Amino acid sequence: MILIIDFGSQFNQLIARRVRECRVYCQIEPPDISMDKIRALAPEGIILSGGPASIYATGSPKVDPAIFSLNIPVLGICYGMQFMVHALGGRVEAAEKREYGPATLSIARAEGILEGIPSPTTCWMSHGDRITALPEGFAALATTVNSPYAVIQDPARRYYGMQFHPEVVHTAKGKKMLANFLFAICGCRRSWTMKSFARDAVRQIRDQVGDKPVILGLSGGVDSAVAALLIHRAVGSQLTCIFVDNGLLRQEEAKQLRKKFKQHLKINIRSVNASGRFLKALAGVADPERKRKIIGRVFMEVFEAEAKKIEGARFLGQGTLYPDVIESQSAFGGPSAVIKSHHNVGGLPKRMRLQLVEPLKYLFKDEVRRLGLALGLDETLVWRQPFPGPGLAIRVIGPVNRSRLDILRAADTVLLDEIRASGYYRKLWQSFAVLLPIKSVGIMGDSRTYENIVAIRAVTSKDAMTADWARLPHGLLGRISSRIINEVRGVNRVVYDISSKPPSTIEWE
Ligand code: XMP
Repeated sequence: MILIIDFGSQFNQLIARRVRECRVYCQIEPPDISMDKIRALAPEGIILSGGPASIYATGSPKVDPAIFSLNIPVLGICYGMQFMVHALGGRVEAAEKREYGPATLSIARAEGILEGIPSPTTCWMSHGDRITALPEGFAALATTVNSPYAVIQDPARRYYGMQFHPEVVHTAKGKKMLANFLFAICGCRRSWTMKSFARDAVRQIRDQVGDKPVILGLSGGVDSAVAALLIHRAVGSQLTCIFVDNGLLRQEEAKQLRKKFKQHLKINIRSVNASGRFLKALAGVADPERKRKIIGRVFMEVFEAEAKKIEGARFLGQGTLYPDVIESQSAFGGPSAVIKSHHNVGGLPKRMRLQLVEPLKYLFKDEVRRLGLALGLDETLVWRQPFPGPGLAIRVIGPVNRSRLDILRAADTVLLDEIRASGYYRKLWQSFAVLLPIKSVGIMGDSRTYENIVAIRAVTSKDAMTADWARLPHGLLGRISSRIINEVRGVNRVVYDISSKPPSTIEWE
């Protein structure tokens, strides 16, 4: 495995992505990781990440310099390189201005980490401080106009440094450079596959859980489904899944999920139909944040009441993914943990004294999908677009009731039907219908109508932090519009949302 020390760069997750694309396992850890933990992880190599700080700034992140006595190869990237040079006796100076953007890398010696890289090649710079003298044993391998020490090495100790970011796609040969580090320098093997992951995870779950019961909340999404499959593989009937039907899901979704888990996968599932309770609590509420809070609260109440019926339950399974873990452990974490907090069972573990079982907490979304396929989950579930915890309640704008949910559900079914048939489903991050709280005049047959408006939202995105409205073909939009107006009673107008995020958000509420 490769240990990545997180100095706070926005590109850190990309380093992990690239390493895993080479089928080498890696873990990102904060700089205050103890030497004991590092020894226990026994990494083949250590990558010191970039970061926004200057090494001279007070409180700038530092890792125990004793890592340089472990006889393990180290690659320092940007801030990580400056940290290494400083720690080993070289000189780093604050530069007057930051260098940011593409630069041309001229390679003097294509060896070590630069083996097989043509010169010149493009690299992506983003740094403030710069190195002015190397520690003993180091030499420069490549330069840019502004950086005489763009790539450095001490081959005897197997220490390497890069002033630029090899993990971003703008560094043309970055992946090859990282691969050189992993294979030629650290001696890693390409052994990280979803099969090997599943094998290890099953063993760990068994060790953790023993013969005790485990409960897990199924949401209908891919993460909780894959977590359930993995835990089921490890402890079989000790696992009980709880599915809270809040009445805010899409057409047929609740039914299909129950069938899939009970009949096909033979997993214990307790399904609670709580739609009446949710709708009652939501009656007359128009404010989006109040809707979210109510849904979160009722979900917790229903889930807890059901969980208490499972005697002796000491463990709660959850489909937490790696980006959430990284963000919550990083001092520079983003807002996504907050966005998602309401729909998992936040306070429950403490209240019921449950221990968490989180078998996916070191995986990225695409890895979870691959794992799902490897565990026999079918493609429709594995490739399901993200769906918000509060469900259709935040897509019926204004107060929610059963009849408005029914209208939206019918429109959404038509939309997804057409999106799937056109081959766009997997190209889009999300595509859905929104029911607006205003009516408009129309004409149907010979009579005037005064009915609802449905908005269509379809976006492309990589991570939901930013999104662009999808340029769907006009023919497809036309089919969606006429089918919704013809087939869904109560709708006489369809509009297409052409706003990007930011400044808009993906959901309307
Ligand atoms: P926005 O609307 O903020 O959405 O651009 C970004 C992503 O998050 C989803 N989303 C939610 N997911 N609970 C969730 O579990 C929520 O309250 C919630 N609000 C938005 C949204 O569908 C998109 O994928």
